[in-house]
Amino acid sequence: MHINFHVLGTLANTIVDPISLNYKDIPNFPVSTVEGHQGNLVFGTLSNVKVVCMQGRFHYYEGYILQKCTAPVRVLALVGINKLIVTNAAGGLNPNYKVGDIMFIKDHINFLGFGGNNPLRGPNDPRFGARFIPMNKAYDRALIKNAKEITKKMGLEKSTHEGVYVMVGGPNYETIAEVNSLRMLGADAVGMSTIPEVLVAKHCAMTVFGFSIITNECISSYDDETEPNHQEVLKAINSKAESLKEFVTILVGN
Ligand code: HPA
Repeated sequence: MHINFHVLGTLANTIVDPISLNYKDIPNFPVSTVEGHQGNLVFGTLSNVKVVCMQGRFHYYEGYILQKCTAPVRVLALVGINKLIVTNAAGGLNPNYKVGDIMFIKDHINFLGFGGNNPLRGPNDPRFGARFIPMNKAYDRALIKNAKEITKKMGLEKSTHEGVYVMVGGPNYETIAEVNSLRMLGADAVGMSTIPEVLVAKHCAMTVFGFSIITNECISSYDDETEPNHQEVLKAINSKAESLKEFVTILVGN
């Protein structure tokens, strides 16, 4: 079973025999507040595989504590999910990345976690997993290999990368000094989500695959007059939605 998050909310429309539950009808579930994000848990099949799709996810910048943002991952673990596909919109830090490119997440930098803000903080619940968990194999190598073969066949090779995702708290986009420091840390793309869910998924031993859609190129020069904005982010996502739906459908079926 798989689940897919967020930017591919429209993927839920391709699910066969869907049963849709609105988040507001699920006790204690948070409700999305971001423009362009819906709030449904959609059960059904994709490529003959049973899936649950999260149409809309929860962000730290909305004001939820990380335990609340990630509670849906534990709900999904309890209904039997053991593979998680996470997607996000991200700014390209790597100068080779262009708007509309895809980055398979091979590793991450948990900026919030550096300061001790982690959804696994607090008493450990051993029904889900162990107190101390390894993260050096967080993103499944076999699925990345598989994903690369699929995008190659789809002719997307040139616009696909494998890189390091860094999460910052948001909701503001980064300053020039922040962009340059994140680059120095070795990050290829920056976003405001995903890592908390991955931590909770790894805690309960899920297999994880993730990718970012590069929605804007991060600005790293004081001479650059342009500014990032949410409209360009939504536009970049919409322009890639069809091919990404196809990609995820093939990946799930493989
Ligand atoms: N920074 C942080 N998060 C983002 C960006 C960005 O440039 N683009 C999309 N999400």
